[in-house]
Amino acid sequence: MGKMDGKVALITGGARGQGRAHALRLAQEGADIVITDICKQIEGVHYPLADESDLAETEKLVRELGVRCLSFVADARDAARMKEVADRTADEFGRLDTVVINHGIGLPHGIDEESLEIWDTVIETNLSAVWRTVVATLPLLKATGEGGSIIVTGSAASLVAIFNNAAYTVAKHGLIGLVKCLAADLAQDWIRVNAVLPTNVNTTLFINEYNKSRFCPGKEDPTVDDMKIPAESLNLLPVPWMEPEYVSHAVLYLASEEAKYVTGIALPVDAGMTIQPPGITPFVGRMMAELKQGLD
Ligand SMILES: NC(=O)c1ccc[n+]([C@@H]2O[C@H](COP(=O)([O-])OP(=O)(O)OC[C@H]3O[C@@H](n4cnc5c(N)ncnc54)[C@H](O)[C@@H]3O)[C@@H](O)[C@H]2O)c1
Repeated sequence: MGKMDGKVALITGGARGQGRAHALRLAQEGADIVITDICKQIEGVHYPLADESDLAETEKLVRELGVRCLSFVADARDAARMKEVADRTADEFGRLDTVVINHGIGLPHGIDEESLEIWDTVIETNLSAVWRTVVATLPLLKATGEGGSIIVTGSAASLVAIFNNAAYTVAKHGLIGLVKCLAADLAQDWIRVNAVLPTNVNTTLFINEYNKSRFCPGKEDPTVDDMKIPAESLNLLPVPWMEPEYVSHAVLYLASEEAKYVTGIALPVDAGMTIQPPGITPFVGRMMAELKQGLD
């Protein structure tokens, strides 16, 4: 007996990365799955977004788990397209119980003229499109009369500032306000609304050529290994980044009956990133201890 038997879950940004992991985790627990993804590049983003072959691969992997799966190329910024997705979901599956609004882009910027357009793109994608997805899917969520669960992917950047990432940080902070308002507005319908806040995750959004250079300034041809030390310095637990499945465990919890009385929260899955005491991080502490050992 799965924790999501008889349920239908829709995941945005589901072609790869965390979205794919969430789709598979919820499917393992018996949910029928709807995945959406833009499957094309957004201008200005420094790494490749998913393509249609990624979306098809997720659909195949989900079906192999023995549940039904629909996939749609859909830009979450496009309210009309998201409404079509909801309508098709209603036609095919007749219900919707869980909406995981996971899509997003990472697009660092300075404080300059060039940032003006980037700001709009990031806010539009990472914040406004979340609202549009909620508006498009809510009638179907409500239609069962059995309640439901909306889960939004924030970030450690929902709680703390990230250097050269004002638009991303503001969008992700904004999601916490949105989660609280939606939780209040939808409580009477037993629709619970929560956020997960990951630290660095092993996906293309984080591990890409552009970030390699950002994390290793001055280093020629930096490798993924070179990113590990600076990435780990952001976390309290001694790890540079985590696999997407660890976010999926939290998503499953929030989607499931086990979280029946949990609404309006922002759940960090962040290796302690957001509670680090100021000053020497454990990583720097260990490094200093090793250096000292070398001197002894
Ligand atoms: N990777 C990290 O380190 C990290 C850390 C904290 C939070 N996050 C958040 O996790 C979420 C998932 O990202 P990921 O790490 O899996 O990266 P990812 O790039 O692998 O996945 C994001 C997916 O969203 C899709 N997408 C982007 N814009 C879209 C749009 N307008 N409409 C529909 N789909 C769109 C992309 O094509 C991609 O498949 C994002 O919200 C991201 O901000 C990521």
